[in-house]
Amino acid sequence: MSQTLAIIKPDATGNGKAGKILAHLEDEGFTVRAIRMVRLTRAQAEAFYEVHRGRPFYEELVEFMTSGPCIPLALEADDAVSRLREVIGATDPTEAEEGTIRKLYAESKGRNAIHASDSDENAARETSFFFPEAERIGSGR
Ligand code: CMP
Repeated sequence: MSQTLAIIKPDATGNGKAGKILAHLEDEGFTVRAIRMVRLTRAQAEAFYEVHRGRPFYEELVEFMTSGPCIPLALEADDAVSRLREVIGATDPTEAEEGTIRKLYAESKGRNAIHASDSDENAARETSFFFPEAERIGSGR
C-alpha cells in the first residue's frame, strides 16, 4: 500500500460535486486516510504550486485555487500515485478517458475538479503540506 494526495478543487466544491468525487474515489478502492476543507491563502497556493511559477497559467491557477474551498485528501491504495492519475484522467477534460473524474466533472483544463500528486516524492511533500503526521489515520508513512 502507498499513499498520495488529492485536492478536490473549488469548481467541484462550488457546484456540489465534491461528494460524488469522494464516492468515486472510494468506489475505485482508495481509502481516505486524512481529509479537511481549506480556503487557501494566496501565499499557500503559490507555495503549493511553486514548481509551476513562471508558466503562463500560474497566475490563473493561483487565482482559481484561492477562489473557494478545497478538500485535500490523503488517499491510500496499491500504487496510489499512478492509480489515482488513471482514475482522474488527463489534465484537459476534453482529452480525459470516459468514466474518469475529470471527464465526468471538470469544466476545463484550468477548472479541472481535482489535483493528484505526480510522483511518490511529490505525494510525500504535498501530503505534509496539508496534513501533519498525527492527522493521518492508519498511515504507514
Ligand atoms: P493540477 O493537477 O492541479 O496541476 C497543475 C494545474 O495547472 C493543473 O492541474 C491545471 O488545473 C492547471 N493548468 C491550467 N492551465 C494549464 C496548462 N495549460 N497546462 C497544464 N496545467 C494547466
